[in-house]
Amino acid sequence: MPCLLRFSRSPLAVIALVGITTVAAQPLDVPYVPTPQEVVDRMLQLGKIRAGEFHIDLGSGDGRIAVTSASKYGARSLGVDLNPVRIEEARANAKKANVSDRALFELKNLFETDIGKADIVTMYLLPSVNIDLRPKVLRDMWPGTRIVSHAFDMGDWKPDHRESVIGRTVYLWVIPARVQGRWSVEGSHQFTVNIQQQYQEISGTAEFGGKSVPLRDAALSGAEIGFAIDIDGMPIRFQGIVTGDRIDGRRDEWRAARAK
Ligand SMILES: C[S@@+](CC[C@H](N)C(=O)[O-])C[C@H]1O[C@@H](n2cnc3c(N)ncnc32)[C@H](O)[C@@H]1O
Repeated sequence: MPCLLRFSRSPLAVIALVGITTVAAQPLDVPYVPTPQEVVDRMLQLGKIRAGEFHIDLGSGDGRIAVTSASKYGARSLGVDLNPVRIEEARANAKKANVSDRALFELKNLFETDIGKADIVTMYLLPSVNIDLRPKVLRDMWPGTRIVSHAFDMGDWKPDHRESVIGRTVYLWVIPARVQGRWSVEGSHQFTVNIQQQYQEISGTAEFGGKSVPLRDAALSGAEIGFAIDIDGMPIRFQGIVTGDRIDGRRDEWRAARAK
């Protein structure tokens, strides 16, 4: 844990050095340190939260992020925390802000929380906790949904955006669709495409007419995929939306299915 100080000036990292308290029945993975309101506001703006969306704050403390998303942005929010004192404070804060019906708080372990229906998840945890959460986030959240973290990154999963707000770092990731593997493309052109994927970064080759050519400008953002290939010396761009084992061309001019 002492190495935390070397790469973070977050007050949370400093408190984590002192030791993590056990207030609740289960030990806490992260001590309580609130996010400054200016940072809360920027986190929600960065996550492009919209009215009616479902927001979850993992380790919700006094509820400020979930209460703000409900009161300022019209979201439905859920905060989970293992400390019953924090849950009481958060419910009182939701009541004060008149959003008790839309900002709910549950005494729950964040690792056991269902995040599969969230449009946006926020967190202010610790580097090791973010890394432990990473497989759950990538498995359970839908492509195109967002994660915003205060202070800590997700290891080798590069953020789609990072910025500094009053000296704090805020990170944004968009959950990428799973596209690794072979796809059969039909429509305006017929070929097979082989995609390699590392989180939202993709590369690969297309095979047609007995030739293999590299994908150019391949990009993935949530469920939106795009790449270009040279056909008869002309660069042709393919832009589509991934839905499970299908990709549909933006203008219906091509489609792809996972190759057997
Ligand atoms: C650094 S505070 C962040 C509070 C709030 N999200 C904010 O940014 O203002 C982390 C919170 O996570 C809670 N916590 C720690 N381990 C947890 C766990 N395993 N499950 C749920 N909550 C946890 C702590 O009680 C604390 O309130």
